[in-house]
Amino acid sequence: MSELQYHRIADDEKGFDLSMFCVPKHYEDDLERVYIPHGLIMDRTERLARNIVNDFGYEEPIVALCVLKGGYRFFGDLLNYISALNRNTDRSFQMSVDFIRLKSYQNDQATGKIQVIGGDNLENLRGKNVMIVEDIIDTGKTMLKLLDLVKDYNPKKVRVVSLLVKRTPHSVGYRPDYIGFEVPDKFVVGYALDYNEFFRDLNHVCVVNEKGKEKYAIPKSD
Ligand code: IMP
Repeated sequence: MSELQYHRIADDEKGFDLSMFCVPKHYEDDLERVYIPHGLIMDRTERLARNIVNDFGYEEPIVALCVLKGGYRFFGDLLNYISALNRNTDRSFQMSVDFIRLKSYQNDQATGKIQVIGGDNLENLRGKNVMIVEDIIDTGKTMLKLLDLVKDYNPKKVRVVSLLVKRTPHSVGYRPDYIGFEVPDKFVVGYALDYNEFFRDLNHVCVVNEKGKEKYAIPKSD
């Protein structure tokens, strides 16, 4: 397998001024900075696709499992790059897709409860090579729970790809097999990552400001 490589975004990384990029008007006042521009996400994803294809080999089919909702854009772009490699060389492998929906966050805090709230029947994974595609690993608890669920279906091989991994003291120590970027311990949104369902419709990965957090907060129930 490729050596685990990723781009590390430093704690003091300021990112880019919002006015340098196109950001929807309705979010302009709610964001601090653009942290990872969309173009950079795409370029890194293209390289991850190449590493994955080289590691999985061409012999057997793959089931790509998308962790919803946050993973949907990364999943789509990653699979497009993998498909491009598949159709432009003399070797290829068949790929099928499955979806699972998990929920663990409210506001910018983990609730501690990880719920499976929908998705395909995981029976499809039995005996297969599985590639799980996630948006972000924070504490790592969600992925450990998912890996546990998947294990019950005895897949042949499981690999995890995450666009982002957070550097946080709350990590349980889990590291995925492929990482796009390692980011500081900040709440990030965009490119399908949300804050209470907002900001998924933002192309770049950005940091929310306090005003944005307040505006879209869900009032705490007792
Ligand atoms: P974990 O269980 O703490 O690793 O959390 C993983 C899940 O929490 C991810 O799949 C996201 O849905 C959500 N999450 C964690 N950090 C962030 C963030 O900075 N922005 C948006 N969602 C996040």
